Amino acid sequence: MDVVKKLVAFIVTLAYLSSAIAEDICVQKGPCSCVFSNGTGIDLSAAVKPTFYQVQTYESRKNGTQFELQTYYFHPCFDVDPKVNSTKEGDTCGKPLSICRHVNTMDLINATTDTFKIDTGAYNYLGSTNFTKFTSDGRSIVYANGPSETIVLLVCAETESNLQVVSLKEPDQIVLQFYSPEACLRQVEEFGRSFGSTLCIIFFSCVIFYLVVGVLTRKFLMGATGLEVVPNLAFWTELPNLVRDGWLFAINGFKLPTRGPGPVTTPDPNGYDSI
Ligand SMILES: *[C@@H]1O[C@H](CO)[C@@H](O)[C@H](O)[C@H]1NC(C)=O
Ligand SMILES: *[C@@H]1O[C@H](CO)[C@@H](O)[C@H](O)[C@H]1NC(C)=O
Ligand SMILES: *[C@@H]1O[C@H](CO)[C@@H](O)[C@H](O)[C@H]1NC(C)=O
Ligand SMILES: *[C@@H]1O[C@H](CO)[C@@H](O)[C@H](O)[C@H]1NC(C)=O
Ligand SMILES: *[C@@H]1O[C@H](CO)[C@@H](O)[C@H](O)[C@H]1NC(C)=O
Repeated sequence: MDVVKKLVAFIVTLAYLSSAIAEDICVQKGPCSCVFSNGTGIDLSAAVKPTFYQVQTYESRKNGTQFELQTYYFHPCFDVDPKVNSTKEGDTCGKPLSICRHVNTMDLINATTDTFKIDTGAYNYLGSTNFTKFTSDGRSIVYANGPSETIVLLVCAETESNLQVVSLKEPDQIVLQFYSPEACLRQVEEFGRSFGSTLCIIFFSCVIFYLVVGVLTRKFLMGATGLEVVPNLAFWTELPNLVRDGWLFAINGFKLPTRGPGPVTTPDPNGYDSI
């Protein structure tokens, strides 16, 4: 019986600890989804539309005599061809991709008439789904591109999905923000996949199977009646104490708990209050 007690304490503790440890990492399931151990996660699939999400930003340079106009294109979940006129040498958006940037430069040619000359611009490839990584908190997707990377922050918002620019510290830190209801944490998988919950399911399935078989055996083969049909009744009435032992075992850093004077003899339903 003592072995069973220790085993129960150990399994309960192990299940609890392993689920606590595994909980904090959002494990990537694809280019636009990740799942926490409890089965909640992010899945942007429903935010996919035929076109790219776009955002435009411009920066003043050289005392306002030059402006740089940047347009960012973002397509979550899978790569599509932006079909832009990307035929110039140095343009790199002429293939299926997830993030592309178009940069125009505008030079002031006449200050009195405020006239600018705009160039044809250039398209820069910034990322594709093959090279994405979710951060462990599930709050952003990092698109790697050579030595630099583009970060797309995912913001849970009850608005129509849209793209914003957060920071453009060239060359290695472009941060965009994707506002979407699809960026909210929700149940992605029915069950958590953590070791702890798997262990729990197996353990309780065994307990139920054992109880059912036990009850049927005792009722029909041994003719037990009433509460007697429950196998190991003494064990079950003592279970609350065993679970408490498991907790104390964990809290004390897996050393056997120091008991108060006198052994615990009867199951004490108020035992939880003393923790
Ligand atoms: C699931 O786990 C995540 C990360 O630990 C947490 O933010 C979220 O609230 C949990 N959801 C539920 C329903 O427990
Ligand atoms: C920008 O303007 C300031 C004052 O108007 C001037 O002192 C400075 O030299 C200018 N810089 C350039 C690069 O034109
Ligand atoms: C694409 O660019 C080339 C050269 O810059 C130009 O001749 C052509 O008309 C452009 N095509 C479109 C559809 O804009
Ligand atoms: C700027 O435009 C004004 C008005 O059209 C013209 O008189 C002037 O010569 C122009 N200046 C330059 C530098 O082109
Ligand atoms: C992405 O991966 C797929 C399959 O692994 C491959 O067919 C495709 O060429 C890759 N794309 C890029 C841009 O590397």
